[in-house]
Amino acid sequence: MHILLLGSGGREHALAWKLAQSSHCTRLFIAPGNAGTSRCGQNVDLNPLDFEGLKTFCTREDIGMVVVGPEEPLVRGIADFFAADPVLKKILVIGPSASGARLEGSKAFSKKFMARHSIPTATYREFSAAELAEGIGYLQQHSLPVVLKADGLAAGKGVIICQSPIEAVAEFELMLQGNKFGEAGNKVVVEEFLTGIELSVFVLTDGRHFLTLPEAKDYKRIGEGDTGPNTGGMGAVSPVPFADAAFMKKVTDRIIIPTVKGLEAEDIDYKGFIFIGVIKVGDDPYVIEYNCRMGDPETEVVMPRLKNDLVELFLAVRDQTLDKLQIVSDDRIACTVVAVSGGYPGAYEKGLPITGLDQPPARSGSIVFHAGTRTEGDSIVTNGGRVLCVTSFAETVYEAVDDSREVLEKIYYEGIYYRRDIGYEFL
Ligand code: AMP
Ligand code: GLY
Repeated sequence: MHILLLGSGGREHALAWKLAQSSHCTRLFIAPGNAGTSRCGQNVDLNPLDFEGLKTFCTREDIGMVVVGPEEPLVRGIADFFAADPVLKKILVIGPSASGARLEGSKAFSKKFMARHSIPTATYREFSAAELAEGIGYLQQHSLPVVLKADGLAAGKGVIICQSPIEAVAEFELMLQGNKFGEAGNKVVVEEFLTGIELSVFVLTDGRHFLTLPEAKDYKRIGEGDTGPNTGGMGAVSPVPFADAAFMKKVTDRIIIPTVKGLEAEDIDYKGFIFIGVIKVGDDPYVIEYNCRMGDPETEVVMPRLKNDLVELFLAVRDQTLDKLQIVSDDRIACTVVAVSGGYPGAYEKGLPITGLDQPPARSGSIVFHAGTRTEGDSIVTNGGRVLCVTSFAETVYEAVDDSREVLEKIYYEGIYYRRDIGYEFL
């Protein structure tokens, strides 16, 4: 089968790496991909939001499956576009309909969905610009900290945790009146702050059944010890030590099953990944957010731990036979360390040459996944904030991080920075 993967980050390199290992995958294309994905298949210079361009390409290259990496094409209805087209409808799209992608694309929708299906989450209220005065009154008497969430997609920046009523009201006004997040902020969800430890739970569903992939924990802050500004992710570990069988059973019974059954009961077409951001409060799981895709950098530890043939899992999604399969995962600990551009998550330079990529692998057979890279002539240069993700396996978190660090020490580009403490709380 000819497969087209959409996206260009570390997540897509990890997916491409995994897809390319399947005997069902006879050709793999990545649009637009990065310097790393070009080693797993053929990069195609196409924008994942250019649905007409994708149509022409899929028809010409006899594509049988499209795997959607990022959320935006899904929220904008790529699965519906394929399903509605007489030529494209036979192509399997891994990723939900726009209706299903609202789990990520609209915080207000996802909160109401959770309420309808009694899925545990922070208590909340939703406000539009017309309800500004009422919202301000609500914020002024709310417990602190209080969490403000822009309803729509805001490139991962739409969540603000406010420590005082003055800050909360100012941010609230900026979102609803000042257009801080554009249209995404036309509605604001105000919710209770939950205190606990977070993990990322990944579910693959065929719309009726589901399988739970290995869970992971990501590290969002730029600085060691989880300090400094938020980033797109500085590293991840899998498995997560506190996600033991008893806790994961609660996640399954209270969150995953009602989510999948809820989607089915509401007739929402969903064939793809559900990424559930879970927080453990005391001994109980609560949903922080849903995403309609895999996580980044979590995918860079989840895919390497997954022993199943990924294309076989996807074919079972098509046939709605996921209940016949079981996830098999590597028992070892996988850890990924993300190397970023100097200055990130603020302003940074692009186009800096990267050296040391072709060194012999570390003891555990580390994998260097590319994120923001591109090929320029014979060299590979930086092309984003997050540049590389080095994944290693070991019996302990400490050894896995150490192996990745050893690989990264031999890689150089001007301004390279990475955290050396990924998984620190589990050491
Ligand atoms: P999101 O953009 O939804 O991923 O949210 C970003 C981050 O904000 C999450 O990963 C959490 O760390 C934090 N967060 C969101 N909602 C809450 C909440 N209700 N309580 C505590 N932290 C939250
Ligand atoms: N690692 C969090 C995300 O992908 O949204």
